[in-house]
Amino acid sequence: MESFNLLLISLIVLVPSVVCASSYKIPAIYTFGDSILDAGNNRFNKNCSAQADFPPYGSSFFHQPTGRFTNGRTVVDFLSQFLGIDIQEPYLEAEMGVANGSRKAYPSNGINFASGGSGVLPQTNKDLGVIPIQDQVQQFQTLVNENKLDKKLVQKSLFLFESGSNDIFNYYNPFTGPTNLDPEAYVQAMLTQVKQFIDQIYSLGARRIVIIALGPVGCVPARMLLPGGRTDRCFGRINHIVKKYNAGLEGLVKDTPITHPGAIGVYGEVYKAVQEFRSMPKRYGFFNITGACCGDGTLRGLVQCGKDSYKVCENPNQFLFWDFFHPSEHTYELVSKALWAGKQSRVRPINLRTLASISV
Ligand SMILES: *[C@@H]1O[C@H](CO)[C@@H](O)[C@H](O)[C@H]1NC(C)=O
Ligand SMILES: *[C@@H]1O[C@H](CO)[C@@H](O)[C@H](O)[C@H]1NC(C)=O
Ligand SMILES: *[C@@H]1O[C@H](CO)[C@@H](O)[C@H](O)[C@H]1NC(C)=O
Repeated sequence: MESFNLLLISLIVLVPSVVCASSYKIPAIYTFGDSILDAGNNRFNKNCSAQADFPPYGSSFFHQPTGRFTNGRTVVDFLSQFLGIDIQEPYLEAEMGVANGSRKAYPSNGINFASGGSGVLPQTNKDLGVIPIQDQVQQFQTLVNENKLDKKLVQKSLFLFESGSNDIFNYYNPFTGPTNLDPEAYVQAMLTQVKQFIDQIYSLGARRIVIIALGPVGCVPARMLLPGGRTDRCFGRINHIVKKYNAGLEGLVKDTPITHPGAIGVYGEVYKAVQEFRSMPKRYGFFNITGACCGDGTLRGLVQCGKDSYKVCENPNQFLFWDFFHPSEHTYELVSKALWAGKQSRVRPINLRTLASISV
């Protein structure tokens, strides 16, 4: 009798967790965007000068540089963990592996195409040798057209997009701007590219499309590089244009059921999430929300982490920002949780846990 009870208890305890673990219907993630999501593509692109392949990048989690522009995991790494799948290799690493015979096929858990420094406008940071979003889609398209990816797998997969902060930052950078477009027209030009991106991945089989909004880019410590950058407040004009761009992104997502039948679009409202961390830092475990943990100069915003006479803080995950442009792993973890299980104020119309539980 006792052993029967024990069996019953272990069944009750075990069964639900088994059901949960196998209930997510997303086997793979295809990621497109910039340094927020780059898992090391630039590292495999020796022609590219936007790099994070040196210490102390990666020091809090991987204990070595991986090419990620933070001290540990990025949002897509956390989302992979929540889904129970392995984190994805950068495209250029997988491509090299297939070419040199160290792997037989492209990975079945997805591919990361994101390239640090890139934007949605093809000319953004072109001189740094980055891979713009149009070329990232081209890389994916080639794999689909050459039947290197299983079509059923692609249909079930999560498509993650985050890009635009480099375009907007460069608009206010006298070395890269000014463009002849006014801010309104600049945002429209960006959104035209995002719409094309969504059209393309949809025609290549994407059905679960997640568009992540930009955070308050005007608050990055690197704002001190810009004329008019101040230590005591964010760069208002940048945040203003970011909000317009984000509103446009949400519009594209809302249109998805009509413009892209059978697809589910999800919008991740990262801007509001980060503003909440900034307004209640202690509640979210932050002790510093203005400066970077790693770098040099005012707010450690003038010199990239790992370069020249850089300095690094003791507890990176107590900082909102790891380096002059990029959040710390702790920030990414909080954002990932908000996208995964958050309320409508953070992710809509459904969160990613729900998205992963329905069939497409
Ligand atoms: C083959 O490519 C992989 C990257 O996928 C790399 O790690 C490995 O060193 C390469 N091997 C050779 C022999 O070049
Ligand atoms: C390398 O980057 C330069 C610009 O910096 C570009 O002109 C050249 O075509 C690139 N080479 C390759 C192989 O991508
Ligand atoms: C936050 O860190 C920066 C250096 O990145 C420093 O200049 C600033 O004083 C710190 N702020 C607080 C409140 O500790």
